[in-house]
Amino acid sequence: MKPDRPSRTAEVTAAVRAWHNQQHHPPIFPDPFAQRLVSPVWGFVSRSRLASWLVFDQILRGLQPVAAHIIGRARYVEDRLAELRQEGLGQYVLVGAGLDSIGLRNAIEANPLRVFEVDHPATQETKRQRLERANGGLPAGLELVPVDFERECLTEGLRRSSFDPKEPALFAWLGVVQYLSEEAVDQTLAAIRESGPPGSELIFDYIAPRQSTPEADRDLLDGLSRFTARRGEPLKATYDPQSLGARLGPLGFDVRKNLSPEEQGRRYFQGYSDSFRPPGFYHIARLGWGDPPKAGAAQPS
Ligand SMILES: C[S@@+](CC[C@H](N)C(=O)[O-])C[C@H]1O[C@@H](n2cnc3c(N)ncnc32)[C@H](O)[C@@H]1O
Repeated sequence: MKPDRPSRTAEVTAAVRAWHNQQHHPPIFPDPFAQRLVSPVWGFVSRSRLASWLVFDQILRGLQPVAAHIIGRARYVEDRLAELRQEGLGQYVLVGAGLDSIGLRNAIEANPLRVFEVDHPATQETKRQRLERANGGLPAGLELVPVDFERECLTEGLRRSSFDPKEPALFAWLGVVQYLSEEAVDQTLAAIRESGPPGSELIFDYIAPRQSTPEADRDLLDGLSRFTARRGEPLKATYDPQSLGARLGPLGFDVRKNLSPEEQGRRYFQGYSDSFRPPGFYHIARLGWGDPPKAGAAQPS
């Protein structure tokens, strides 16, 4: 992303969640607060039937599978978050949080989690203003941790916060890996592993290389690449799903789930239109290190 400017792709992913909650019934990822965090323009687009048809069903129609993945990954993470909460999880860290509304949704729970949103200071300033507008300030349980990963590492940022390094956490790193170099991804992976004690988990999504993307989805991958590059956030790191375990094992991670786009489609998108299905290049990985959260707990999905 461009220094000193809030992430434009974070605006788009938030707008997708707002649009999805207005247009799809029932929503795959219920998010009644998504609307409150988008810009006034995206708020209008997602609320107005005509404007959303024009933008999402006409101008951005070709990118609808990408929108589906944005919804699918959010659902997967929060399903896992709900499972872990039942097992006593108390800390949730969003790395590159963007305009995710978990802080607002969590605050109305009887027993709110401690939520840490780590993000670029410029994006986070916009988030702070939107939270002020929507909620009159930061919701209970939410802590904003500004970190520019080009200048500071996640561990240092979390050390400045009230994050408890002795208590396992779920880390979510959504829609970010694809914009980083492999070196920057490895550095952040090491920082996440260092920050969270054994029993923690990390969920992130990633793009497979073009050559291992199904032929039918390669034009879409090229289109996405142009779309994000025009917004100053070109696609960079890719990972081959077949060799992810071998790649991340030496970094100390155990790949507990490598959710393919097909499985995402089967799990969440049955009954929705064919154009609203994740494309063949977006995968979701769930990693652990140390012992799983609780012996004898329900089998994680
Ligand atoms: C596509 S958005 C994803 C936001 C959110 N996770 C979602 O799914 O809606 C990418 C996020 O990465 C963050 N990001 C990009 N470069 C960064 C950097 N150098 N330091 C910190 N955060 C960065 C942006 O601020 C933005 O919030």
